[in-house]
Amino acid sequence: MAHILAVSNQKGGVGKTTSVVNLAAFCALSGKRTLVVDNDPQGNASSVLLGRASGASIYSGQSPHQTIQDNLWAISSGEDLLEQEKALARSEGGRFALRKALTPLRADFDLIFIDCPPNLSFLPMNAFLAADHLLIPLQSEYFAMEGLSQLLAFVDDLRQDVHADVAVLGILLTMYEDRHPLARQVADQIRQHFGPKAFAAAIPRDIALAAAPSHGQTILSYDPLSPGGLAYLAAAKELLHVLK
Ligand SMILES: Nc1ncnc2c1ncn2[C@@H]1O[C@H](COP(=O)(O)OP(=O)(O)OP(=O)(O)O)[C@@H](O)[C@H]1O
Ligand SMILES: [Mg+2]
Repeated sequence: MAHILAVSNQKGGVGKTTSVVNLAAFCALSGKRTLVVDNDPQGNASSVLLGRASGASIYSGQSPHQTIQDNLWAISSGEDLLEQEKALARSEGGRFALRKALTPLRADFDLIFIDCPPNLSFLPMNAFLAADHLLIPLQSEYFAMEGLSQLLAFVDDLRQDVHADVAVLGILLTMYEDRHPLARQVADQIRQHFGPKAFAAAIPRDIALAAAPSHGQTILSYDPLSPGGLAYLAAAKELLHVLK
């Protein structure tokens, strides 16, 4: 039965999609049958893994497509996703639509990553209610901490109000710049507060990670030995260790 991970942070551009596609690529490389569900109308994960975001989303019954990598499948964000979100928000039980859609897929995969949009709207809520684990990519900057408390409070409310099972699995520092005292300060605070839930691997700012998507590739195929590639490999190893 697959572990389902929601990858979320309501702040935009912090490395959610980059983390989803690259962690998924390394998990698939290690032999895990891995599915990426693009739960973001922007469709960025879909364009990296499938070359496009088109047709229907998982909410309208889209099924997994094999990517160019072994063991790695993806369900594209659809052109319908924004409309679907509005419809789900109006419908009874719409919060559980993603959970329902993933239930029959759980047996086919070891890992399911859900990429989320930069907000706390109905789509991330669906992800939190479908997932076992929450993975939070966090950019090491001052305002990151405020956003983080908001996200954690949102998830706590779901746990209380509708008995969501999701729990924070880890915080992954992204675009980390070791030379910046402020980045180190944020990292120290995160490690103090979250202890072992803060990944030991921090993802450095690396031009290779930014360039890979423009070639429709993950860092594994584009430049696995780049600092960013090695960092995502280390993070994927940690992730698989925690899930063991
Ligand atoms: N470690 C990194 N080093 C350099 N560039 C990065 C790194 N991580 C992500 N980027 C780049 O930063 C931008 C934002 O990253 P990404 O799309 O992964 O963030 P996101 O949180 O998914 O954004 P959104 O909130 O819009 O969904 C992208 O152009 C990406 O290529
Ligand atoms: Mg994204």
